[in-house]
Amino acid sequence: MTLPDEEIGDLHGRQMSGFKDFYQFVAPTRVVAGRGLIEGLGFEFSKEGAKRVAIITDAVIRGTGLIDKVEQGVRDGGLEVAAVYDGVPPDSDAGVVVAAAEQAKAEGADAFLAVGGGSVMDTAKLSNVIFTHGGEPREWEGYYGLPRADDGLGRPFDLAPLACVPTTAGTGSEVSFAAVIKDREEHLKFQVADFPMYPRLAVLDPDSTRTLPPAIAAATGMDAMTHAIEGYVSREWTPHGDAYALEALRLIRDNLERAVTAPSDDDARGNMLIAANLAIAPTSCNAIGIAHSLSHPAGAHFDVPHGVANAINLPWVIEFNAAGGTDIANRYRDINELLGLETGGDDATGAHTLAEHVRGMVARMGLPSRLSEVGVPESGIPLLVEGAMGDACTLVNPREPTEEDFAEMYRKAL
Ligand SMILES: [Fe+2]
Repeated sequence: MTLPDEEIGDLHGRQMSGFKDFYQFVAPTRVVAGRGLIEGLGFEFSKEGAKRVAIITDAVIRGTGLIDKVEQGVRDGGLEVAAVYDGVPPDSDAGVVVAAAEQAKAEGADAFLAVGGGSVMDTAKLSNVIFTHGGEPREWEGYYGLPRADDGLGRPFDLAPLACVPTTAGTGSEVSFAAVIKDREEHLKFQVADFPMYPRLAVLDPDSTRTLPPAIAAATGMDAMTHAIEGYVSREWTPHGDAYALEALRLIRDNLERAVTAPSDDDARGNMLIAANLAIAPTSCNAIGIAHSLSHPAGAHFDVPHGVANAINLPWVIEFNAAGGTDIANRYRDINELLGLETGGDDATGAHTLAEHVRGMVARMGLPSRLSEVGVPESGIPLLVEGAMGDACTLVNPREPTEEDFAEMYRKAL
């Protein structure tokens, strides 16, 4: 059954096809992708105005020797390394953000270079805000809250130049304007996002994911897949975002499992860096969904890694959403077609086919398939439901979930 356009437009204000009433799309980060780019880091970053660079990273990455190469690359371009902060934990918090900003300030840095996964890059973004504008991290919580010219009505003031070298292929944080940071006392993750937080430069070099453990490559790759699928099916979908999401899914289809099972495959790892980059683009216009609403509180309360949580939750969300209407199920059918899956049958069948495909990938890559395997107790569900209901991603999901819907999805995923 296909709904006429006027009915599609009426479903809870949802508009899953046709010419949209409004959207904006932003992708301002300069991306350089290729081999051997770490050696040319200073050359590229100098074009963004960097002179004295504060490097933000974590101890594990520093231990691989990558930071030595990065420092050499920075110096070879005529820039100075002002500081190296390597204290970012897997789930960065407000205290770390402040410490990194203070070190950069004390050492006279004028630019930030993040070398790491999502936690490192998000730390660098928010450290840059504190470095430039001062204040405490939570004071900047929310969207579009950075200082602007003309009494707040004009162009936002620039931050220091930020370049990112992602060492996982998943979050896409190197081309997004959001930082997700943990508040450890409050057991929640807060977001800060504004246009100046877009990194000026993203450097995608397969050398930077050479030592990535397969389990992390799998989890972060599933995060990218979740961004692409949720972006494509979100009520905030856009034609621009669709183009990015579908190409991301093509690259994920051809490269994710290769990159996990054959970590020495430079082409697969390089293509996954690009896929993660493309997959995050729809989120610039808020196109995301409730796999993320389910995953955020699981990370905040039970430390479930973000990509693992998404890999577990995504199939259940696909089946839930597709039951919300044929216009939604048809978006999943497009994805089935791209992935070479069956597209026939009713809405539930199509969604189940895609969900089973995702479950199969998760199993083949050796990721956990149950929340109970990663430390979530059944007694935690009410707390998780509360977090999911309040999550911003819930508002843009194509089907509106109730508390009971969320509880049921958690129970199924448990
Ligand atoms: Fe994500």
